Amino acid sequence: TLGGYADFMEKEIAEQPEAIERLLKSRLGEKGILLDELRMSEEDLAAVDRIFIIACGTSYHVGLIARTLIQTWAHVPVVCEYASEFNYEQDVLITEHTLCMIITQSGETADTLTAARRMKGLGCKVFAVTNVLGSSAARESDGVLYVQAGPEVCVCSTKAYTAQMVACALFALRLAQANGHMDATEVSGHYADLATLPDLIRTVLSRAWQDKQAAAVFRRAHSALFLGRGVNSTTAYEGALKLKEISYLHAEAYPAGEMKHGPIALLEPGFPVVAIVPEDRVHDKTVSNIQEVIARGATCVAVATDGDESVASLCEHVLWIPPVEDELLVPIVAVVHLQVLARYVARSRGCDVDKPRNLAKSVTVE
Ligand code: M6R
Repeated sequence: TLGGYADFMEKEIAEQPEAIERLLKSRLGEKGILLDELRMSEEDLAAVDRIFIIACGTSYHVGLIARTLIQTWAHVPVVCEYASEFNYEQDVLITEHTLCMIITQSGETADTLTAARRMKGLGCKVFAVTNVLGSSAARESDGVLYVQAGPEVCVCSTKAYTAQMVACALFALRLAQANGHMDATEVSGHYADLATLPDLIRTVLSRAWQDKQAAAVFRRAHSALFLGRGVNSTTAYEGALKLKEISYLHAEAYPAGEMKHGPIALLEPGFPVVAIVPEDRVHDKTVSNIQEVIARGATCVAVATDGDESVASLCEHVLWIPPVEDELLVPIVAVVHLQVLARYVARSRGCDVDKPRNLAKSVTVE
């Protein structure tokens, strides 16, 4: 039931802090992170020398973040692919110790299941990151990582997205400890950073009025461009997907540095651009992209870190996020503004946010 919320999307956005808290608490054991249902021994984990992440839609975006976390924390090379592309590639370059990770909220996405079967056929161990107990993905895989976000009713994924990212972060830490790239103290340090996420998300949720105000920029727009760098290029992809999925407004996302290689031609007075520009190593580079956007008269809505005057002085609206200790975790906080923004835009355009046209919750045909 909706329990006082206007729609399931609003309810599920609000449930994110508790979902992440629940997941984190249930995965902390005396010896570190518990992922028993992966069904992999310490030796098997330590031996993993390549990972294929395969997924669709929002779950593919989780995969992009997981790739960075695994490569940075566990030093294992990762390939991340759309299942629909992977399934028709001629050659799959696996080693004896390649692991395949499929990410699927519903556990029923046909393309993703086909990819898992292909990998199993090649002799590769497959595990599924999924939110649905006993789903096809869970049953057909060698191991599972349950996301425990609770049922997601809205077609547009919100709480499963953020919880899946946290589940993948836990996996990256588990792998890093198994293969010796992190000791127990380092793992606890990263776990402590993850444990700050629920309150950071609560802070973002308390600022929904900022998203409501910014939504006015998109009400009559025909198109929007989302920009971000590094891990937040993925936040841009996810923000654009949310917006187009529920508001039917065309939105495109690019890594901010790619703007000058084409999309800059779109810019004209009033064209809406959403820039994700937190305090991080690429902050100044993204600020110069915002300057290029503003110089062409376009309207910029930014997601930025509290107190960042360099962004506030340039942009029409700023969606503020509190400081996040580890910049690799910013996507889990910043995306919440983009979920809330997309919902306000969709509602202002009279759309049914829970049941967007032409879409199904799980896509069971290829
Ligand atoms: O259940 P899955 O995670 O496998 O679903 C994959 C996509 O169909 C799904 O994420 C889709 O992109 C969402 N509607 C996005 O909000």
